[in-house]
Amino acid sequence: MMSTVPFVIVATVTVIVATVSGKESSRHEILRGHQIWQLSNDVGDVPLEVMQKGLLDVLGHFGTSKKVRVPFHCLEEAQRLLQEKGVSREILVEDLATYLEDHERLSKRSATMKSDAYNCSQPRHDDYMTFEEMECFLKRLSEDNPRASLTSIGKSFENRDLWMVHVRPNDPSDSEEAGAVWIEAGIHAREWISPAVALHILKELVQDNGSIGNFDVYVVPMANPDGYNYSFTSDRMWRKNRRITSQPGCGGVDLNRNWDFHYGVGASENECSEVYRGSEPFSEPETKALRDAMTKVKDQLKVVMSLHSYGQQLLYPWGYTKHKTAPDTSDLIARGKVFADAAKSVHNTVYKVVNSAGDLYKASGATDDWAKGVLGVKYTYTLELRDEGMSGFNLDPSHIVPCSEEVWEGLRALLNEISKE
Ligand code: ARG
Ligand code: ZN
Repeated sequence: MMSTVPFVIVATVTVIVATVSGKESSRHEILRGHQIWQLSNDVGDVPLEVMQKGLLDVLGHFGTSKKVRVPFHCLEEAQRLLQEKGVSREILVEDLATYLEDHERLSKRSATMKSDAYNCSQPRHDDYMTFEEMECFLKRLSEDNPRASLTSIGKSFENRDLWMVHVRPNDPSDSEEAGAVWIEAGIHAREWISPAVALHILKELVQDNGSIGNFDVYVVPMANPDGYNYSFTSDRMWRKNRRITSQPGCGGVDLNRNWDFHYGVGASENECSEVYRGSEPFSEPETKALRDAMTKVKDQLKVVMSLHSYGQQLLYPWGYTKHKTAPDTSDLIARGKVFADAAKSVHNTVYKVVNSAGDLYKASGATDDWAKGVLGVKYTYTLELRDEGMSGFNLDPSHIVPCSEEVWEGLRALLNEISKE
């Protein structure tokens, strides 16, 4: 006992000193000097063009104004290019590392609290889960629920399992098959609310006694485990997977630009870009695994929903062009509004139903376009979850439960509507 006393004193002193100097967390060192800028209005495609060059990262897309992250070594060049094109900027965050450190100090959580005992029976309500915690929950869920089965559909670049849960309908005697729903989450690493919501929906699904009708549901709650893990340990703003590319310091492929449908539009060939499309369509093990698993059930699929954040928008195809209207657009909008109305009824959160390319930005090679354009699934959406941009990716974990509740209500309403067809 005695020997622990000096240790406690030393540890306390270290914490105080570290807090005063603002440097206790070196977890965000990689983002030191990165800035967040708010660009002037009516910027058109300029930010996207600069992003394709790998000089900035478009974070939020509201109307005509955009919020972007600029890495430290790109500050001058990005500013010069933007100025050339007549876009002005306001600096919102001077140093992203300090910003994230301050944030963590203010919230009650800290890196050390991550080791809280987790018993795997429920998805966490109080915090975002590590990939290992997710695996533990998924295994327990499938052991405890005869209707749920867990399969690894492949391995990530760094050899982590890509898990898929199949939840069978509640009433197997009901011979009328409703078809299947595919839910993909976590394809972008930093969008932590996405897998969190998927896991809570899984919990609801296995408890549901028929309120979603007779649908089979396939859920891939974490489509990019390597990137997710990296966003915990090293770079909170990481988006892509963890492929090692030819350029040191520019790893990763944007998995939502790697699917083979109008491949290349609104994406980048530059490895350093946040929207790097990869060396060829389906170059990545993660997208290949998703493609193959979806293809196996394609005849059943009625709905494909890809969960992202942030922006509170339900996006319908196409994403690759705004000059062509996708088949079934009026149904996509009408059913989308059913989702949005039901979601709003829970906590009054507004999800706008908008066209991907027309109202957000043009981007090809995403799950939704491929599922519609290649597999021919009627209802394919990308759902941008909470919030509207106040906290963005850094959304407080207190949103996990309410956000899941509204998405679950929305989904139930959507499926009920679709099952009438
Ligand atoms: N935020 C998503 C992304 O950037 C939106 C994808 C929408 N779908 C599309 N086909 N563009 O990947
Ligand atoms: Zn995303």
